[in-house]
Amino acid sequence: MADDKKPKKPGKGRADTGLKVRVKTARGRTASSARWLERQLNDPYVVKARREGWRSRAAFKIIEIDEKCHLLKPGQRVVDLGVAPGGWSQVAAKKVGSTAANPLVVGIDYLELDPIPGVVLLQKDFLDEDAPDQLIAALGGEAPDLVLSDMAAPTTGHHKTDYLRTMHLCEVAADFAINVLKPGGAFVAKVFRGGTENELLAQLKRHFSTVVHVKPPSSRQESVELYLVARGFKGRADQTED
Ligand SMILES: C[S@@+](CC[C@H](N)C(=O)[O-])C[C@H]1O[C@@H](n2cnc3c(N)ncnc32)[C@H](O)[C@@H]1O
Repeated sequence: MADDKKPKKPGKGRADTGLKVRVKTARGRTASSARWLERQLNDPYVVKARREGWRSRAAFKIIEIDEKCHLLKPGQRVVDLGVAPGGWSQVAAKKVGSTAANPLVVGIDYLELDPIPGVVLLQKDFLDEDAPDQLIAALGGEAPDLVLSDMAAPTTGHHKTDYLRTMHLCEVAADFAINVLKPGGAFVAKVFRGGTENELLAQLKRHFSTVVHVKPPSSRQESVELYLVARGFKGRADQTED
């Protein structure tokens, strides 16, 4: 897929191709990898993403969250935490009008990924001490309007461990957002069903005027993921008059 190809305007609603591909367990393929491949080949969002030039089916999650919550606007600066393979940043760059000459989107991931037009990419662990400074430096020292986090820790299959690791990433992302956002800004983060920690929810409610959970239609129903959307950042003491 050509990533620098301008994505076609994504359609609304659920994708449906009617495609049915069966995958056999052959040539050393395990039953679980055959199941994964079969699900990918038959997933209408995977097919639709490929057709429209998005790097991941995840692109539809931010498109759907944005349709519901109206977050991305031209000229805004955006930080994308856990950017690889790049669907969210492609969508963000298109919506805010980010270009190579005037980049408004910066993404970070410890995985390597191919360049995305209009996006500054940092290959780095977001939990590194110097990551926040590097992200803001990549935006020319300007505060972002939006902090997006689709970060997820590699799954172990042990639900409690996966939940705690991903919630930790979400908490660090929330702290970062509260420390860098412009007043009026917004924060989106992946969380796992099982309850956003009360403390985190209370912290977000103190700093944002509205906080909601959103399960976009493209997020698999069987998946425990959902997204926290906090809007109307109230600002920090150093940003207000008093
Ligand atoms: C679900 S994927 C993101 C998909 C992306 N939103 C898209 O549209 O293509 C989650 C990503 O978070 C990244 N990630 C997890 N922990 C991270 C960390 N501590 N620092 C940077 N990236 C991290 C993973 O490497 C993975 O690429």
